[in-house]
Order: sequence, then structure tokens, then C-alpha cells
Amino acid sequence: MTQFVQSPALRTAWYPVARVSELGENVLAVRLLGEDLVIWRGPDGSLVVAPDRCPHREAPLSIGIVDNGELTCAYHGWVFGAAGQCVSVPSSGPQAAIPPTAHLRCMQVQELYGLVWVCPGVPAFDIPRIAQDDDPMFRRLNTEVEAWSTSSPRLVDNFMDFSHFPWVHTGTFGAGQDPVVPKLELGPLDDDFFGYTYEVDAANPDEAVAVSGSEDDFVHRVMTTGFALPFIVRSTIRYDDGLEHILLLCSTPVDDLNSLFTFVVWRNDDHGVDPEEILAFDRAIGAEDRAMLETVPGTLPLSRTGLVNVQSDKPSVEWRRRFADLVGIE
Ligand code: FES
Ligand SMILES: [Fe+2]
Repeated sequence: MTQFVQSPALRTAWYPVARVSELGENVLAVRLLGEDLVIWRGPDGSLVVAPDRCPHREAPLSIGIVDNGELTCAYHGWVFGAAGQCVSVPSSGPQAAIPPTAHLRCMQVQELYGLVWVCPGVPAFDIPRIAQDDDPMFRRLNTEVEAWSTSSPRLVDNFMDFSHFPWVHTGTFGAGQDPVVPKLELGPLDDDFFGYTYEVDAANPDEAVAVSGSEDDFVHRVMTTGFALPFIVRSTIRYDDGLEHILLLCSTPVDDLNSLFTFVVWRNDDHGVDPEEILAFDRAIGAEDRAMLETVPGTLPLSRTGLVNVQSDKPSVEWRRRFADLVGIE
């Protein structure tokens, strides 16, 4: 089986691991690239991310208690503050020096697009830029971060592929869609994303009316889909009336076979439609992908001969080629 999570190159990228709104006074445990991490908001308001293992006797820090931004380990009460500094070892008394190795080895963290992004190593990538995030015509909608029992490469492969729409998305927008995929031209979409543009007549059932802003049975969409290595996909849907719906599809490798998945939406609608109605349709589409992907065992073969590819697989093959190159798998 292909194993990719141990690749050093993947430690230089940013991964969304939680929603910012999940972090209040509590402590979160997440698993990223096979490593357990603890996250909490420190006393200075910045997030602290570190291995979920107390340097003393390796108790999970995530079962500890946060008070005023300081995390107390549940085992012997060592206290960790801003930037993971150990500020108290109760058994030594208040006067004793704290061993330098008691401080946590923290990772870099950013809050962007309503998400908490972690880079486990020295960043060599930027978080992809979504220009509409600064545009007051657009509003941003966030949804839950879900744990999916599928490998992140399979998620990206799926998001770059639209030949599955009339087969997998029959309950949302794919019913009656022409299964023939035209020849796709790939190229840079902007500084961050590489992909393609295509046009489609999508089914527009009642549940999609809030999203499309149209009551017609089918709506014409111009779709632009591209990837930013390693695992981010952006899909922009433009309707004929100028409405734009931008979807950032974020897959985070928990380990080789499991992922966190969330999406972020930006829309230039009149901001009047209930966000829950918009999100419900995109969640339903995601649930269709999830149901299919969780039936497929293992991770995506990355070798050139591991799978049969046809014309419609060109975009996902391009992602796979670049990803295999990044992680050093031939
Ligand atoms: S294991 Fe954390 S204080 Fe001992
Ligand atoms: Fe899909």
C-alpha cells in the first residue's frame, strides 16, 4: 500500500484541523499526518499547537484542563502557558527552576477563513489565497469539520473529477447530466490553483433553489476547478445571472487512510438567503461523495501504472503526478 503521511515534504504544508469556533475555553485533540496534537487558546489569545504528549510521563495533554489560557496536565499537574512554556511543576515547589526540556515543542498555527490551520514543520507552502475573502460583495460560510474514513488523495482525486457527477450526485445536482466529459484544457487559474474550466447544465431540484437562485429545472453553470498542493481544491460555480459560489474543499490527512474534511463557501448573493439552506445542499453533495469514497478500500495508488485512466481523468492524473513528485513516490 502507498504510504504518504511520513513524507517530510508534507510537513511543510498547512492543514485545516478545526473550526475557529470550536476553540473557546476548551482543549482539542486532533490527529494530523499520523501524529496526535493538542490545541488550545493560550493566555495571550494565540493558539498553541503541540504534540498531545506531556513531556513528563507522556499523558495526553488533551485530557487536561484549560484555565485562563493555561493548560494543566491531568497526571501530575504541570502547567503550560503561552507558546507552550511550562510555567509550573507543582511537585518541585514554586522556587525550583523548570527544566528547559519541559517546554512543549509547538507547531505553527494560523486562523484563516474561519479555520485553524497547522503546519507541522517549517512552512514551504502558503495557505491558498481566496481573493473574495476580502471582498465585501461576498460572504463566507463555514461548516463542521468531519472525520471521513477515506484517504486524502482519494478525496482530491474525487474533487478534481467531474465524470462521477451523473452517477454519484443523482440525489443533488447530477441527475440527467450528460455523462460525456469534453476535452479539458489544464492550466494555471491564478497564482495558487491549477485546473480547468468547463460548462455544465446541472439539475436544479427544489433543495438547490436557495443555492442557485433559480427555479428552472436545470441551470447553466460555468465551473472552474483547480488544486493547490497538497490537498486543497477550489471549485468556483458561476451562474448566468452573475451569482458566484466558491467552494474551498479542504482535505486533511489524519493518517494514510483517514481524513478530516470541511468546506468553506463564499457567495456574492444578496446575503438574504439563510446560510443553513446554502450549506445543507453542499453538505448533501459532500455526503454523496463520502458514501462512495468510504466504500473504496486503501489509499489512491500513486504509481503511473496503478490505475486505468481515460480522457476525463486528466485533471486528477495531473494532481496525482505532482503529488507523487512532492512526496517522492515514483
Ligand atoms: S505526565 Fe503530565 S505532569 Fe506528569
Ligand atoms: Fe463529487
